[in-house]
Amino acid sequence: MPSRWYDEDIERIIVTEEQIRDKTVELARQVAADYGQVHELLLICVLKGAVMFTADFTRELGRIGPPLELEFMSASSYGQGTTSSGVVRVRADLDRDIAGRHVLVVEDIIDSGLTLSWLLKYLTSQAAASVEVVTLFRKPDAIRSAPPLKYVGFDIAPEFVVGYGLDYGERYRELPFVGVLKPAAYARPDL
Ligand code: PRP
Repeated sequence: MPSRWYDEDIERIIVTEEQIRDKTVELARQVAADYGQVHELLLICVLKGAVMFTADFTRELGRIGPPLELEFMSASSYGQGTTSSGVVRVRADLDRDIAGRHVLVVEDIIDSGLTLSWLLKYLTSQAAASVEVVTLFRKPDAIRSAPPLKYVGFDIAPEFVVGYGLDYGERYRELPFVGVLKPAAYARPDL
């Protein structure tokens, strides 16, 4: 395979493209089984990181689950660096009423759990019929601080990862896998 611009920045891959694909199918099966009786399910993609997972998960769930609708919110706690800032910033709110709807929040990663805790409170206050969460990745702090989650793809180590939607300085989201950057990559002059 020809080398890609990012190959030299990656120290190691922690979850491969194939593992992500298999896990996405598995999560879609779990959700489809649990929501077999609902008329429709509203997926809320938390931009930007969850965009890749949402696109793939929605198609998998669409094959076997109830009718789906898709909405987007943009909330962030990371800021520019590699650790959560501790403050949740809503960059784009929902533009519709979710009262009485069954909602499934689609996240790429739960780290400190701060974004999710805020989102759950917010969505519940909008009188959704139910609110659950599916996340592809979860870090150890979230197991301690966030509410227990039904749908978790991979529990990963507390190290900073990029790829499949996850960025460092807005780069690396397009990687088809998730990996750890080499220390030198953080010092790239264009980042
Ligand atoms: C990431 C991720 C979650 C949040 C998790 O978003 O997509 O929304 O951080 O962190 P927490 O559990 O510590 O709150 P980020 O702030 O990187 O924004 P982005 O998705 O737009 O890159």
